[in-house]
Amino acid sequence: MGTLSRRDLLKLGLIAGGTSLFPMGRLAAAPFLDGGGDDDVPTSPRTTPFIQDLLLPSPPPQVAPFQSTCSFVELSTQCEALDPECPTNGPVQYYDIEMRENQVELIPGLMTTIWGYDGFYPGPTFMANKGTRFVVRQRNSLDQLTVIHLHGAHTQPDSDGFPTDFIQPGAFRDYCYINCHQAATHWYHDHAEDITGPNVYMGLAGFYIVHDQHELSLNLPSGDFDVPLVFQDRRFNADGSLFYDPFDHDGFLGDKFLVNGRIQPRFEVSKRKYRFRFLNGSNARYYEFKLSNNQPLIQIATEGGLLPRPISRQRIRMAMAERLEVVIDFTNVPLNTSVTLQNVLVQTSGRGPDGVDLRNPTPLLRFDVTSNAVDTSDVPDVLAPDPHITPFPPSRTRRFEFARSHGAWVINGRFFDAERVDADPRLCTSEIWELKNGGGGWEHPIHIHHEDFLILDRNGRTPQPFERGFKDTVNLGPGDRVRVHLPFKTFLGKYVFHCHNVEHEDMRMMGTFNVRS
Ligand code: C2O
Ligand code: CU
Ligand code: CU
Repeated sequence: MGTLSRRDLLKLGLIAGGTSLFPMGRLAAAPFLDGGGDDDVPTSPRTTPFIQDLLLPSPPPQVAPFQSTCSFVELSTQCEALDPECPTNGPVQYYDIEMRENQVELIPGLMTTIWGYDGFYPGPTFMANKGTRFVVRQRNSLDQLTVIHLHGAHTQPDSDGFPTDFIQPGAFRDYCYINCHQAATHWYHDHAEDITGPNVYMGLAGFYIVHDQHELSLNLPSGDFDVPLVFQDRRFNADGSLFYDPFDHDGFLGDKFLVNGRIQPRFEVSKRKYRFRFLNGSNARYYEFKLSNNQPLIQIATEGGLLPRPISRQRIRMAMAERLEVVIDFTNVPLNTSVTLQNVLVQTSGRGPDGVDLRNPTPLLRFDVTSNAVDTSDVPDVLAPDPHITPFPPSRTRRFEFARSHGAWVINGRFFDAERVDADPRLCTSEIWELKNGGGGWEHPIHIHHEDFLILDRNGRTPQPFERGFKDTVNLGPGDRVRVHLPFKTFLGKYVFHCHNVEHEDMRMMGTFNVRS
C-alpha cells in the first residue's frame, strides 16, 4: 500500500481524479471522474440466496501470557466508587491476532480476497466477562497501514485506536482492554486515518461481546441461542474480487447483502426463543429490518447494554455502526417452514435511505425452523434500571454541526486534524453535546468514542422508547438536531468522534476531544 491517501489527494487538489494505489477498485486512467460517476461500477455476479449456511465466528484462542507493550492504566476512582465487578487487578487473558489476506468463497465457484483478523471475515468473536482484562496483540501482515478500535468500550487512550496510531506492515501493537463496560455488544474494526473505508470493506471487523453478572442472571437465551449478526453490503467484480471506489466520498454502496460475511445465508433454528445481536457493519448503507411473517422483533438492548424494558417492534431501522439486540421467538412457527429477515429500505446513494418499500423487500437471512426444543429461557419485563448519567449534572453545552464542504466533510467548518483538540472536557464532569445536521439531505450517524451517552431530545422532542438506552452512535437524519448527555469519567486523554459513514469519516468528518484533569 502506497502513501498517497485521500487526504493527500485533497491537499493536492486532486480529489476529483487521478491515480490511486488502492489495491482494488478503480485504478488510474480515470482522470476527473468524480465520486458520483458510476459508469464503471460493476454489477456483481448473480448469486442464489439461502445456499450458504450462516457463519458463526468462533472466539480467538487464548495464548500464554507475554510481555506486552501496553500496560493497564489505573482506572480513575476519583469520579465514581470502584465497581466491585471491575477490580483494577482483575485476571488478564492474552490474545495474539494476525491481520492477513485470505481467499474466501463468497460467490459459489469464485474466490474473493479478503483482509481478516487471523484471516477470518468477519473476525473472531471476542467474549469477555466484565472485569477480566484482555491484552490483544495485533500483528499486521498486510501491505497496508492498520489501526484497531474497539467500538463501544471504555478504553485507555493508547489502546483506543486513535486514527494515527498506525501499525506498520510487518509490525504489531498491543491493546490493553479493561472490559469494564456493562454487558453489551461491542465490535472491533479498523480505524486507520484516511483508509478506514477500504480496510473495513476488505473485512477488518468483528464482534466483541461483554457479559456481566446481572445480564447472566436474567436467563435470556444464551450460548447457541445468542447469535451475533453483522449486516454488510459489498460489490464484486466478475472474477469474484471485491470492488471498492476510493473516489466515492458520498458513501460506498454494494449490491450484495451479506450477513456474517456470507451472501444471504440460511440458518437452521429450533422452535424456541433466540437472542440476536444486530450490527450494521456497512460502510454507508442503512437498513430497516422486518420479519417476513410480520412477527415482531423484541428489542432488548441498545449499543450500551440492556434497555429498561423489552420493546416490541414491527420494523427496526439501523444506521451504520449502531447495534441493538432483539429476541425472536420461533415457538409458533410451524416446523419445516421458514421466516425471512428482510430489509425494506431502499437506498441508491451515500446520501442516505430513499424510503421504505414494503412490496419489494430484500431478503437478508432465512431462518429454517427444523426442530422442536424445550425452551427454559426468559425475557423478563424488567431488564435493567432506568439509565441515567451519574453522578455529575451537565457542566456545559458544546455544539457541533456536520456538513458538506468542497466535496468533503467538515465539523463546525473544519476538516479533521489529528493534532488539533476540538473539545477539552474535564474528567469527572458531564456535558451536553448538540449534534446538528448541516443539511443538503445528507444523513450522518455520529459516533463518540470512549463513553456512552443518553439522548436528551431529537428536534426538541423526547426520543422514541427504543432510543432511550445507553448509546454510542446516533443518526442525524436530514435537518436533525440531537442533544446528547455525555459523561467523562473513565480515562484522561485524547479520543475522536466522527461520522460513521466511513467514507465521510475518511474524508475528514472527524473531531477530537481531550479529557483533561
Ligand atoms: Cu466504529 Cu471511531 O468507530
Ligand atoms: Cu468507538
Ligand atoms: Cu456523514
